Amino acid sequence: EKDIISGLPLKDKTVLITAGPTYEAIDPVRFIGNHSSGKMGFEIAKAAANLGAKVILISGPTNQTVNHSLITVLPVVSAQQMYDAAHLHFKNVDIAILSAAVADYKPKNVATQKIKKKDSTLTLELEKTKDILASLGQIKTTQFLVGFALETNNELEHAILKLKKKNLDLIVLNSLNDKGAGFKSDTNKVTLINKEEEATVYQLKSKTEVAKDLFNTIINTLNA
Ligand code: CTP
Ligand code: CA
Repeated sequence: EKDIISGLPLKDKTVLITAGPTYEAIDPVRFIGNHSSGKMGFEIAKAAANLGAKVILISGPTNQTVNHSLITVLPVVSAQQMYDAAHLHFKNVDIAILSAAVADYKPKNVATQKIKKKDSTLTLELEKTKDILASLGQIKTTQFLVGFALETNNELEHAILKLKKKNLDLIVLNSLNDKGAGFKSDTNKVTLINKEEEATVYQLKSKTEVAKDLFNTIINTLNA
């Protein structure tokens, strides 16, 4: 209670955050990636640090930068590297928020030399990456685990399924329906859904404000 009043409710907490895209190598010069900017994850990291938390920010390739004494950035490239970094630190954290846009599939074989242009079509065989969030859901003990969901149809139903399947405490449903929400933008429209399947719909707002709303909910839940 004292720390809430002093404005540092996360003072003795460590928060792990994943952010940005992952890049999955095809050959030495090419990869499969996505347009995630990393903005949401970096805003979550800053919000956590501003609340007094120690932050481990595992980030895929982005242009985002942050300079805060409480934030350690661990840069990674691939889903496997993000998985390894997350598992290395998970047992020592209180809260984990997985906002990264992790590639769902990666090339099954990575060519050691640049693939030469040849036939009129080229087929790449892909295999699933490991689901970092689901794997943490399976091993979590006291950690408060937060995931994201990006859906285009039956949003609420799909998000609740993810919450249950991955054993989460909270899921952030990202709505693509509104202009100005999503990957490249500075704003987001989210719905937060807790373990009891209670959904709270938020207005379109800056990612900075979305991060604050997220920690309000987390702190209220932890203190309940
Ligand atoms: N996630 C993860 N590791 C993966 C894939 C996803 O940690 N290999 C995490 C994301 O960071 C996000 C959540 O899982 O917090 C949901 O990601 P999303 O892409 O919405 O769902 P998926 O489970 O990958 O299912 P689908 O893409 O088929 O909807
Ligand atoms: Ca996915």
